[in-house]
Amino acid sequence: MQEPMLDVQNVTMKFGSLVANENVSFLVKKGEIVSLIGPNGAGKTTLFNCITGFYKPYAGRVFFKGKDITGLPTHRITAMGLTRTFQIVKPLKEMTVKENVLTGAFLRMPTKKEAEKVAEEVLEMTGLYGKKDYLAGSLTIADKKRLEIARVLATKPEMIMLDEAMAGLNQTEIKEAMELCLNLRDRGITLLIVEHIMEAIMPISDRVVVLNAGKKIAEGSPEEVTNNEEVIKAYLGERYHAKGKKS
Ligand SMILES: Nc1ncnc2c1ncn2[C@@H]1O[C@H](COP(=O)(O)OP(=O)(O)OP(=O)(O)O)[C@@H](O)[C@H]1O
Ligand SMILES: [Mg+2]
Repeated sequence: MQEPMLDVQNVTMKFGSLVANENVSFLVKKGEIVSLIGPNGAGKTTLFNCITGFYKPYAGRVFFKGKDITGLPTHRITAMGLTRTFQIVKPLKEMTVKENVLTGAFLRMPTKKEAEKVAEEVLEMTGLYGKKDYLAGSLTIADKKRLEIARVLATKPEMIMLDEAMAGLNQTEIKEAMELCLNLRDRGITLLIVEHIMEAIMPISDRVVVLNAGKKIAEGSPEEVTNNEEVIKAYLGERYHAKGKKS
């Protein structure tokens, strides 16, 4: 059997007496798009932090490509091919768009020439090429989110975790972001996506994992999850009917 790309096993994370993740387990296979959904405060970002080395989980283990990465420093996890974006985008504002992307590209490309080539490819892929000389601080929110993705792509990842990369985007920009996700998947990149915009992620996800109050309450195909009573009660409620339409 093919080894899973990401294997999260019984992860628990506590902040004092608050249990932000409780015994969470799930798998992501190579080439899949998996979404992680749930209400505000469910523990999605905390789980991202536990997976990518920003936090060391209180209990449980995380495996990437069969290797135990639990609690490894973030830069080591990135070097292994797993990287993530942040819910609150933090571009280096005084640097240009291209310079921001170069900071990622230098991870694998030792010379400026090679790094520039990777940066330009990634700028092209994310639709930012025409703005490569803009200061990052001057970008719109949609372009800042694109830049965040471009920066992680420049590290040549095998798997990317996106934390609300579509929040604050308009309909057209959301469509573009969905296309970008599918495009990355077609290039062989595995994706784990945290998002509240159900209309955007349900059509592109192979599987969906649902968190509520730190616990996994459901996992399955988009159809299974959107028809799951507990998920509707805890999260989807009025915002997304089981048939996949907005209420
Ligand atoms: N560094 C921290 N210290 C203390 N409590 C924290 C910390 N980070 C998160 N929490 C708490 O842990 C819980 C889970 O938060 P988390 O940010 O992981 O939720 P989320 O699912 O990402 O929510 P959202 O959809 O609003 O982004 C919340 O109750 C939050 O207040
Ligand atoms: Mg969050």
